[in-house]
Amino acid sequence: MSNDSLHEVDPQIHQAILDETRRENSTLELIASENHVSEAVLEALGSVLTNKYAEGYPRRRYYGGCEWVDRAEELAIERARQIFGAEHANVQPHSGAQANMAAYLSVLKPGDTILGMNLSHGGHLTHGHPLNFSGFLFKVVPYGVRKDTEQIDYDELAELARRERPRMIIMGASAYPRTIDFERASAIARSCDAYLLADMAHIAGLVAAGLHPSPVPHCDFVTTTTHKTLRGPRGGLILCKERHAKAINRSVFPGIQGGPLMHVIAAKAVAFKEAQQPAFKRYQQRIIDNARTLAETLAAAGLRLVSGGTDNHLMLVDVTREGLTGKEAEKRLERTGITVNKNTIPFDNNPPMVASGIRIGTPAVTSRGMDVSEMREIGSLIVETLHSAQEEPALNSIRERVLNLCNRFPLYAPRITSMESQRPAAHD
Ligand SMILES: Cc1ncc(COP(=O)(O)O)c(C=O)c1O
Repeated sequence: MSNDSLHEVDPQIHQAILDETRRENSTLELIASENHVSEAVLEALGSVLTNKYAEGYPRRRYYGGCEWVDRAEELAIERARQIFGAEHANVQPHSGAQANMAAYLSVLKPGDTILGMNLSHGGHLTHGHPLNFSGFLFKVVPYGVRKDTEQIDYDELAELARRERPRMIIMGASAYPRTIDFERASAIARSCDAYLLADMAHIAGLVAAGLHPSPVPHCDFVTTTTHKTLRGPRGGLILCKERHAKAINRSVFPGIQGGPLMHVIAAKAVAFKEAQQPAFKRYQQRIIDNARTLAETLAAAGLRLVSGGTDNHLMLVDVTREGLTGKEAEKRLERTGITVNKNTIPFDNNPPMVASGIRIGTPAVTSRGMDVSEMREIGSLIVETLHSAQEEPALNSIRERVLNLCNRFPLYAPRITSMESQRPAAHD
């Protein structure tokens, strides 16, 4: 067996990792669904647990030699249950999309009616987009936000539930800056005898810290990714009531997946342990404080925020007043080292690949230690970039200021000759 290091075996991939490390260090990551994980999570991800086949569940596997991966999975399950106060947890979904697919198929049949949030109002592809499995397997009835408040129209949701009698109502979003009322959704679901599923992928970290009302007591199923505000490895998680545990487990394996990714499950366990520490709650509070300050800074400079502000970790900015499309704004900000994504805004006239808005989130910059004073600075850098009319000297000078700010908050040490880990800046 060769023990050569990555840079000897595959210099091109080694270089790509090096370059990505430099990119993350030298740019402001404001994509609301991204984060920078801890070195401990990275270490678990890069471990020998990737070698192990473990189809099945702890102590009921189809393979021998599962003693230590059982330990890792049991720790992940137990911690997930504790953090969210859930009766049952399945930590095997490879991603958020897989978690949703498994949860839907545990109780739904093709052709069943589901209510999901309109993608262009903030919902996710897996909540019923026609090009996604959720859209072609089920009859999808979308609900959305009110035109005046740009917040979820619960009256419309109740009316649709009454009229359409769905088998399942899906709450949760990818681009919604406001608190979601899961209790109210639960009353609506009960009124039409529908299952209620909350996809808390974006807000899971806030929920874990008790800073967003938890969907767990109100829902049959709660799905999430583990890599957004929760700050774990890329992956999925399903929580449910005990009465659905067997159906969920069967639906994940053998229903839609084969062997679980044991290195990822171990990394999820590490992230869950981090989420149990008092520092995690302070970290999540800072994500929210930072989002609020950034939103106020942008609004004070005249930018229009969808729904007028934010309650959580993200905001949606309508850039049409600036004479830009979302696509142009994203590109211009990338030029100055500020990474965001174009995003449709409610009742958008532009198609999704152009869009009228940008989505901005604070989890990643908060992970590298930035605080409200840096958010004011970032707000100014965003506004100046958007107003710069693409003048090269102005953009160069903003890029320089972004770089100086990044250098004040070093993230990962550059891995020049090996993948050996070093500690990143603590988030607390
Ligand atoms: C609300 C929501 N659900 C599910 C997903 C899908 O997660 P994944 O990309 O891991 O499949 C996302 C991803 O952005 C999301 O925002």
